[in-house]
Amino acid sequence: MKKPLLSRRDFVRLGAGATVAGAAARAVLLEPPLLAAQAAPTDRRIRFASIGTGIRGCDLLRSARNVPSCELVGLADLYEMHRKAGLEAYGADVPATGDYRALLDSKDVEAVIVAVSDHLHRAIVLDCLAAGKDVYCEKPMSHNVADGFAMAEAVKANRRIFQVGSQRVSNIVYQKAREIYTSGRLGDVTYIEGHSDRNSPSGAWVYPIPPDASEQTIDWKAFLRDAPQRPFDAVRFFRWRCFADYGEGVAGDLFVHLLSGIQCVSGINLAPKRAQSSGSLTFFKDGRDFPDLLATLYEYDGVAVNLHCNQNNAQGEPIIFYGKEATMTISGNTLTVAPQDTRPQPEGYSLNGWTAAARKQYLDEWHAAHPAAPAALADLETYSATPGYDDTADHLANFFRSVATREPVLEDEVFGNHAAIACHMANYSYFHRSAAVWDAAAKKIAG
Ligand SMILES: NC(=O)c1ccc[n+]([C@@H]2O[C@H](COP(=O)([O-])OP(=O)(O)OC[C@H]3O[C@@H](n4cnc5c(N)ncnc54)[C@H](O)[C@@H]3O)[C@@H](O)[C@H]2O)c1
Repeated sequence: MKKPLLSRRDFVRLGAGATVAGAAARAVLLEPPLLAAQAAPTDRRIRFASIGTGIRGCDLLRSARNVPSCELVGLADLYEMHRKAGLEAYGADVPATGDYRALLDSKDVEAVIVAVSDHLHRAIVLDCLAAGKDVYCEKPMSHNVADGFAMAEAVKANRRIFQVGSQRVSNIVYQKAREIYTSGRLGDVTYIEGHSDRNSPSGAWVYPIPPDASEQTIDWKAFLRDAPQRPFDAVRFFRWRCFADYGEGVAGDLFVHLLSGIQCVSGINLAPKRAQSSGSLTFFKDGRDFPDLLATLYEYDGVAVNLHCNQNNAQGEPIIFYGKEATMTISGNTLTVAPQDTRPQPEGYSLNGWTAAARKQYLDEWHAAHPAAPAALADLETYSATPGYDDTADHLANFFRSVATREPVLEDEVFGNHAAIACHMANYSYFHRSAAVWDAAAKKIAG
């Protein structure tokens, strides 16, 4: 057996895998008073309507049931079954219409949740704002760069409360991560990595088409609105994320969650300076416009952000913040902080090529210069939300709190626009096969 060149005392760090060797573990269950469950900041409940009660619209209504500061007073959807599903999800009998404008005419509606396909965000949000309503708009805020700026300007011009629906921004685990990040405990963070992987047809939006789907049950013209006109197509209606006329593929659907989480934790509130994407469409060759694997390297001021989404391998959706002093990982509703071992130690690797006498001299001198025993490593910390924690309820509660108090929301139009621009840059780079460069003065992506 080879004799180790360094003694155990010398060998403080055992390579990359040993960053937490010797670190004690500490686990904390985050149990804040759930914002969603708190009483409203005023006695009255905010009366709201929902536009779009499909997959997400129904989820939002289910979460809204647990938010005491709001009350659903009407909903709109273009598809009969989704209107019924929306009523079921909230569990109340309120007016349900195919034409959302009827809701905007009602003085009874103070705020609106917009959960329609992305290509309709701009037009519907602008109508809501012009009607004097506060708006919660689902992510990604925009379908393209111009839409995002038009929406941001309209929020300002109409002086409305506007929140984008990336619920991670209100998540208690992300709020804890933000506290840790801003405390500086991670040291300089120059690299952030995240991915959102799934490996199933559902994860690639191959949703079943309901048997009653037809032009009799769906207002197809209203769905298309300003998009290229084409005959009724149920696949496009239900799997709109796959098509560039209505969605933005994995970037708008999934990158946006990673980007919003990263912006929330790091405080970055800018569009990236540059994005470079690569990817492929390998498995889901069903006529869709977007790749099922997309990898993008972003350049922000002083931080590189590396994201990928793979619809052909299920490796979850962690975000990792690599700091000089510690690595912080958020995965689901759990956050870990693993200390890096940066304690002083004698160099070991290059001594392989030294004579025994030279090694001894170097190590004697090193120890003479570092007489103190190494300090203990910081604990490995884990923070988790209580099982069943619903960040969507907290995100809604934050929105309704701002509607009542007129105080700023957590995820406003500037924040949401920056996250959406980063998604558009990822797609630009993929489809143009060149870097996407953000031109902030022109508010445009340049090649
Ligand atoms: N925050 C999240 O975790 C999350 C999750 C899923 C979806 N989303 C977002 O939510 C939005 C909706 O996605 P989805 O999965 O629910 O899609 P979906 O297709 O299931 O539902 C969209 C609904 O909008 C309705 N709609 C479209 N135009 C309308 C109009 N003019 N008036 C009334 N209703 C209209 C459609 O009929 C449909 O029922 C998208 O922006 C999506 O990106 C967010």
